Amino acid sequence: MDTRIVSAARQGVATRLLSLEVNGQRQQRAVAPDITLLDFLREELGLTGSKRGCDLGECGCCAVLVDGRPMLACLLPAADLEHSAITTIEGIAEGTALHPLQQAMIDEGAVQCGYCTPAMVINGVHLFSGESRPDADAIRTCISATSCRCTGYNRIVQAFQSTAERLAEDPR
Ligand code: FES
Ligand code: FES
Repeated sequence: MDTRIVSAARQGVATRLLSLEVNGQRQQRAVAPDITLLDFLREELGLTGSKRGCDLGECGCCAVLVDGRPMLACLLPAADLEHSAITTIEGIAEGTALHPLQQAMIDEGAVQCGYCTPAMVINGVHLFSGESRPDADAIRTCISATSCRCTGYNRIVQAFQSTAERLAEDPR
């Protein structure tokens, strides 16, 4: 039996072995059966880019990609994600090269406290992976999945629109 399970069992903690991929790296951990994906990422792996806002599935700040689709990590039991591929904000840039949306968020001044930014980017990366030039309605629908308490959204919309324009000229 895995030594981490033995260790946890000695401490009287029921665990199960979870194996999944996070940002391209295989991860295997003994976890409590009821741990959420958000806690797994933040507490077990130290990936704190995914933010905890409400823990209720309402604010959207915890969004990550699960097998390429945006999902709310606070609502997902990690144990249900065996063999899934998770992408967090830490896995979006390619080395030092930011995704065009990340760069646009900086250039347009769309990042204030930054708490909503990882989820905005995660949802945007999914949007731009499907269509290089989404229209204004698609952009606003995408942005509306995440609550921002700081910006009033206009700069975020501008960042998405400039990304759409850039990707239309120079698809990745
Ligand atoms: S923390 Fe997950 S939706 Fe708010
Ligand atoms: S930049 Fe602060 S919550 Fe959006």
